[in-house]
Amino acid sequence: MEFDLYLEKTDEAAAMFWQQVKGNVFAFHGQMGAGKTTFISALCRAKGVTGHIGSPTFSLINEYRYTEEGNTRSIFHIDLYRLTNEEEALNAGVEDCLYSGDICFVEWPEKVPALLPEDTVHVYVHPVSNHIRRLKIEVGR
Ligand SMILES: Nc1ncnc2c1ncn2[C@@H]1O[C@H](COP(=O)(O)OP(=O)(O)OP(=O)(O)O)[C@@H](O)[C@H]1O
Ligand SMILES: [Mg+2]
Repeated sequence: MEFDLYLEKTDEAAAMFWQQVKGNVFAFHGQMGAGKTTFISALCRAKGVTGHIGSPTFSLINEYRYTEEGNTRSIFHIDLYRLTNEEEALNAGVEDCLYSGDICFVEWPEKVPALLPEDTVHVYVHPVSNHIRRLKIEVGR
């Protein structure tokens, strides 16, 4: 699946994404500033996450909460940009998150290709112009 993402329509695009894409681990590929965090934030808001959503800074992992059918659930937002090796990811609990069954968004997934579950949904974000991004979505390794 491929679609153009207009900055001012980010929330609509996020709602559409959840209607059409099934999965729980989402690997976001794209250069610095491509718009990974922007779209991940919208996907979290669409699930009902309130409060600050942003790139994890001190830890590699941010945990957000939302309520679904009366149950409180977690979303893990993992940013591996500063990761130096896979061991560091394991120590930080990245693998535990990826196999928890909870929704996980991973920025810079190229850093840990071997850790990603087989049914990971890969999202490629390409800048087209100042306000438009092209998103390409593929399932599997
Ligand atoms: N259609 C769009 N979707 C997302 N971001 C856009 C779009 N158009 C412009 N932008 C801008 O591009 C920037 C994207 O920054 P963002 O932090 O989301 O990138 P990132 O891919 O997470 O980068 P990093 O790898 O540094 O974490 C923001 O300043 C945002 O306003
Ligand atoms: Mg980011």
